[in-house]
Amino acid sequence: MERIVIRGGTRLRGAVAASGAKNAALPIMAASLLAEGPCRLSNVPELRDVRTMATLLESLGVRVAGGAGAQLVLDASAATGHRAAYDLVRTMRASVLVLGPLLARFGEAQVSLPGGCAIGARPINLHLKGLDKLGAEITIDEGYVCARSRRLRGARIYLDLPSVTGTMNLMMAASLARGITLIENAACEPEVAELGAVLNDMGACIEGAGTDHIRIEGVQWLGAVDHSVMPDRIETGTFLVAGAITGGDVTVRGCRPAHLEAVIEKLIEAGAEIQMDADAVRILGSDRVRAADVKTGGYPAFATDMQAQFMALMAIAEGTSVMAETIFENRFMHVAELRRMGADIRVQGNSAVVRGVKRLSGAPVMATDLRASASLILGGLAAEGRTTVSRIYHIDRGYEQIEKKLSALGAQIWREKDPGGV
Ligand code: EPZ
Repeated sequence: MERIVIRGGTRLRGAVAASGAKNAALPIMAASLLAEGPCRLSNVPELRDVRTMATLLESLGVRVAGGAGAQLVLDASAATGHRAAYDLVRTMRASVLVLGPLLARFGEAQVSLPGGCAIGARPINLHLKGLDKLGAEITIDEGYVCARSRRLRGARIYLDLPSVTGTMNLMMAASLARGITLIENAACEPEVAELGAVLNDMGACIEGAGTDHIRIEGVQWLGAVDHSVMPDRIETGTFLVAGAITGGDVTVRGCRPAHLEAVIEKLIEAGAEIQMDADAVRILGSDRVRAADVKTGGYPAFATDMQAQFMALMAIAEGTSVMAETIFENRFMHVAELRRMGADIRVQGNSAVVRGVKRLSGAPVMATDLRASASLILGGLAAEGRTTVSRIYHIDRGYEQIEKKLSALGAQIWREKDPGGV
């Protein structure tokens, strides 16, 4: 096992390039199952979750070539598999994204129930309710969702919660259904809009992807597509917080500031200066970080995936901030670890009350989930002394070489074998 070590106190300076978005790459890879031809994807981030999705697709008969910095080619022309095995699905919840495409293309799907994770129970009832509306016969058998349908038929689906992967699964399934499907109260995340654009490039007929009302007219088949994956807005936001928390001067290039308005507004409220154009954003951190209240929500509200990172910044702010997490029921796992670094944070229900302290102190801490890992690294960058973050396999799921990118900005950060072996 490995750990990341940080010697805090350096003001970060310089520019870093945003990688492709994990939460766009994964659904687009799953969509390749719908295509009767190769999907050529560029700007795919080199992440553990991307490798897991590629392995899952190969197990379903998709021919996978390239990747690891080169173009990723996914050809499902000859794919016939329909069973997504538990040993893969349990390591990555996003595996559920193959359910809709398998059902739509092959009329059958067996996908292991993903199970929960550190941040919550993560049910998929809304995915299944929507597929049922599209005419699928669904049973749960020994921990697997078994879905069958000769041909899905269009339907009106109202999502009780604007589930991101739920919206994606249903959009992909409805693309090959007979007739019109309306998805109401759909998730509006930019990654949903991106998937809709890719499906249309494959021959689908989708209007409104990226809004809360999506109309899909089913087609007979979908073909090959070439696509460059959009930049990762959460990675971008994470590096902006790195600039703010160290009082540095950091520019993120090749990003889309328009996808991060709520986070940028809160960074300005917290005392940072921001300069931006269409594809780059520069942050000038201030020596006086101010407390700012945050409430997470579906896009375009403040992203839940940025809550842990922003909390690290609030931990050294002047004043007290209240951070309300409205999306997941257990997304404060980073609090106990930040407190080990001297943060003064109290959790009350789905809110955390953060009373800023002058400085954090470096300490050995443990990552519990992807964004919590980022939060601990950010805390380490600002802390006095040395911080070691163990179980960093969590961070490798969603950040491409984070320590190399931070080191290029002047951070004293490195990866080493974890003598504790955890
Ligand atoms: C996606 O997860 C992202 N993952 C998450 O990013 C992100 O935090 C989340 O959307 C919210 O933005 C990917 O895109 C691969 P949801 P998803 O379905 O789709 C409840 C990261 O750090 N719900 O929008 O699984 C659910 O429990 C990850 O990159 C149901 O009740 O999230 C949650 O409370 C973490 N029933 C809320 O809805 C369902 O059928 C939102 O979940 C589905 C969801």
